[in-house]
Amino acid sequence: MRGAHRVPRALSSDCTMNQPETIATLAASVAAPADVRHPRLLGWVREMAALAKPERIVWCDGSDAENERLVAAMLESGTLRKLDPVRRPNSFLALSDPSDVARVEDRTFICSERAEDAGPTNNWRAPEAMRATLHELFDGAMRGRTMYVVPFSMGPIGSPIAQVGVELTDSPYVVASMRVMTRMGRAVYGVLGRDGAFVPCMHSVGAPLAPGQADVPWPCAETKYIVHFPESREIWSYGSGYGGNALLGKKCLALRIASVMGRDEGWLAEHMLILGVTAPGGRKLHVAAAFPSACGKTNFAMLIPPRAFAGWKVTTIGEDIAWIKPGADGRFRAINPEAGAFGVAPGTSYESNPNAMEMLKANVIFTNVALTDDGDVWWEGMTREPPAHLVDWQGRDWTPADGKAGRKAAHPNARFTVSMRQCPSIDADWENPDGVPIDAFVFGGRRSDTAPLVVEARTWEEGVYKAATMGSEMTAAAAGTVGEVRRDPFAMLPFCGYHVGDYFAHWLAMGRRVARPPRIFAVNWFRKDGAGRYVWPGFGENMRVLQWIVGRCEGTASAVETPLGWMPAYHDLVWDGLAFAPEQYEVVTAIRQEEWLRELASHDALFDRIGARRPAVLAHERERLGRHLIATAIE
Ligand code: OXD
Ligand code: MN
Repeated sequence: MRGAHRVPRALSSDCTMNQPETIATLAASVAAPADVRHPRLLGWVREMAALAKPERIVWCDGSDAENERLVAAMLESGTLRKLDPVRRPNSFLALSDPSDVARVEDRTFICSERAEDAGPTNNWRAPEAMRATLHELFDGAMRGRTMYVVPFSMGPIGSPIAQVGVELTDSPYVVASMRVMTRMGRAVYGVLGRDGAFVPCMHSVGAPLAPGQADVPWPCAETKYIVHFPESREIWSYGSGYGGNALLGKKCLALRIASVMGRDEGWLAEHMLILGVTAPGGRKLHVAAAFPSACGKTNFAMLIPPRAFAGWKVTTIGEDIAWIKPGADGRFRAINPEAGAFGVAPGTSYESNPNAMEMLKANVIFTNVALTDDGDVWWEGMTREPPAHLVDWQGRDWTPADGKAGRKAAHPNARFTVSMRQCPSIDADWENPDGVPIDAFVFGGRRSDTAPLVVEARTWEEGVYKAATMGSEMTAAAAGTVGEVRRDPFAMLPFCGYHVGDYFAHWLAMGRRVARPPRIFAVNWFRKDGAGRYVWPGFGENMRVLQWIVGRCEGTASAVETPLGWMPAYHDLVWDGLAFAPEQYEVVTAIRQEEWLRELASHDALFDRIGARRPAVLAHERERLGRHLIATAIE
């Protein structure tokens, strides 16, 4: 390890905490606060500091005062701009480097000991070779910068289901964002005690500063590596300051590493929202729903039922990630390990998601949205008419004429970072350490054709098959070709930390671990007509489908059997307050044989890639589905 034992310069000068306890071997270099009593944490921080050679170390305490200091420094450096304090109190805008705008899936690696344990859907490198690469990259990577020690808890602090991580980062933007997205701060040192487990998360933007060199508002590097070592439960991220690449509690810990923990310990870490739905005078049910990135998870999690559904209530437990464990009551129980939302801004409006708009009124970090002349934010879809003038996400003047010429004011993957506590529909149980009982799993892709509005699997196995073969048109959340259909099993393609065939087997086995497994549904809000227009109105109107799902779980809703499973006939959904003709319903529910034959060929290609680790049960399901489709066509 190059440079691992060299002593960094003047590390303690900016330490924010009282009563520093000096680490013997690096006297005056790595001074930890008195409540850090964890030799392994201290040793790791010392080792990483020796490697990355930051100018100073700050042990974060998560306090308001600390956050104010960070924000002030970022305003000074140009990383943040303050928004108008009346229009958008205590809110800020960050504009990233144009090259650092999304998760980089092709630079994301699962470095399991054996290549076959990462599987065909993950990039794999031999751990030793990757460690050598990382040590090379991180050697001196933080020169001239501050290394922040960010202790965080995924799940409520101290709860038995929580996992602790410690992120070392040279990005103050990451620190401020982690404070919103996780339970971050001093209390976590207390939970760790002397020997508590934590996931080490090493992060650098990869832009060291030479003495006297001026910084840029959004430092990052061309070379990017997002690396996971599943066996040792370690995360290393280099070169990006954006979202899931850099806020390491989210995709890296709560999905990739946690999915491995779940495999080993008998639970599930899923890319799912969690919502509660209460019928008038009725029982409350809970739904966990997986959609690929930027397919409306936040909107569905915060759905407001249309007027015709008086007395129905939807409440929000989580909007991106669920940890799901078999409960003592024979049901799955789910928690949201996050404390904030890192949501896609474009498309969010009072029409699509009024709860999100209310949540965004204050205390928000916006990234890559446009700035209005009166110091507020705007993005495509926020209002029907754009403002007459904006500063776009790259800091350039923008007018509606630019929009007409195809230039977006906000980047399509522009984001808001905000505390879940501000969500008006937040569920009273959202921090319940026992989680909420799950009645239904919903899987949804973005498909212009092929996939019907909603279908219920007849069995757990058929449901797992549906989830395993999910397809979706790609969005801007990840670097890649937007619009192309790709198989995205369980919406976990970029997030499963191990072999996807083993992951399918784990799901099949988990269905047998509980006495009352949830029903499984597949939905598609995105079907288009011959003219390329969306047919289903979506957003609040998705309540009509949700109501049917509730009815199926309660045994009160009727359905017709189709080759794909149970589907509602037109009259099985409630249409009060919506003009939606049977012909339109036909467009969003039609099962077309030629499309499904293409679809099956694509399932086969996925399974061919997976190879011998595909569970035999899924081969059986594939065969049955093929038979059903052919039989229906002959009739
Ligand atoms: C996200 C994503 O940021 O899925 O949630 O990309
Ligand atoms: Mn997501």
